[in-house]
Amino acid sequence: MAKITLGVCSSVSLYKACEIIRGFQKEKFQVQVILTKNASRLISPLLFSALSGQKALVDPFDEEYSDEIPHVDLAKETSLLLVAPATANMIGKFASGVADDFLSTFYTASNCPVLIAPSMNEAMYLHRQTQENIQKLRAMGVRFVEPEKGYLACKDIGWGRLAAPEKIVEEGLRLIKKSESLKGKTVLVTAGPTREFLDPVRFLTNRSSGKMGYELAEEALRRGAEVILISGPTHIFPPPEAKLKKVRTAQEMEKEVVAHFGQADVVIMAAAISDFRFAETSSQKIKKEKLEKKIDVVPTEDVLQKLSSKKGAKIIVGFAAETEDVVNNALKKMKKKSLDLIVANNVLDEGIGFESDFNQVSLIFPDGKTIHTEKKSKLEISQIILDRVEDIVGG
Ligand code: CTP
Repeated sequence: MAKITLGVCSSVSLYKACEIIRGFQKEKFQVQVILTKNASRLISPLLFSALSGQKALVDPFDEEYSDEIPHVDLAKETSLLLVAPATANMIGKFASGVADDFLSTFYTASNCPVLIAPSMNEAMYLHRQTQENIQKLRAMGVRFVEPEKGYLACKDIGWGRLAAPEKIVEEGLRLIKKSESLKGKTVLVTAGPTREFLDPVRFLTNRSSGKMGYELAEEALRRGAEVILISGPTHIFPPPEAKLKKVRTAQEMEKEVVAHFGQADVVIMAAAISDFRFAETSSQKIKKEKLEKKIDVVPTEDVLQKLSSKKGAKIIVGFAAETEDVVNNALKKMKKKSLDLIVANNVLDEGIGFESDFNQVSLIFPDGKTIHTEKKSKLEISQIILDRVEDIVGG
């Protein structure tokens, strides 16, 4: 039976962890609870031992483990580390590599997906330090279930209330449910921006964090595909199982995509490839007095367009970043580039796309059929896209 390790920190909302345990048990997962020392002062570990059927762990120096290293052994068996509720303190420890109790030691010893559901007072949650820690962990691939706005234990009303247990369980399952629906297929994903250099210091680029492409790569891996991830410069960590090719310029991106195209059954072009590069690139930094008033640019190759003639039985998915008339503009791109599916979004919408963890997209098919999604996490959007890709694969 697959195992989930549930870290429980000292927050009044920790009683909700009981429902979380039940939620995973209903889906046939075994849950191992680790309580922080302070959490064990708020509630007896016995309650969690009884609910989970596994002795709840609190102290790594417990006499009982004298001949084993429990955090290391457990880490090897765990499919997901979920921390709910997570305090600002524990988030800070994870972000800075402090490992001074069972849970933080377990985190540094584990290699599985990590999901954190924060719960704290609004001021603590919105504090710059907490937000910086969250961003740091997100960049390392740690996921968060955002807290809700509501009545808090400190009697304030604000952000910081632990998300609903069902929502936390749903997010957890999303991360660990593996399938074989793309087994035997190779999926090539491009992600991130490209950089077109004027000189060693200055470059032309597009806005793109790479998050959408990385989510797609990770989801394709969860579905059993071999994944080739060709990525421009990003600040996020790629899924370790993907075959990663790092590129900087549009020309390098084109070269890698062309080199791996033959192996791919599905190509998903989420990268924001620059449409222009400088006509000349100087190998030395250009002194500002010598900089021309006008600098010539030349078009780069449209990689998707170039591939369309060699498409054969491959499934090709493009993205369209638009600012107006989104569906029509995307439809034109799809026809021009002979795509099987185009995923369009309005990049002027606040809170989605670019650096955000959320997106709201329209999926457009060659017959004009269009599916508009709600605003969802990029993980959920990647699942919607790959569900449609699987429909196309299945004919
Ligand atoms: N694309 C590409 N090669 C380029 C530029 C874009 O393969 N040189 C791909 C992108 O990866 C994306 C799709 O084409 O999947 C659409 O990119 P987008 O920037 O939205 O549109 P463009 O075709 O570049 O058109 P425009 O910039 O005029 O909107």
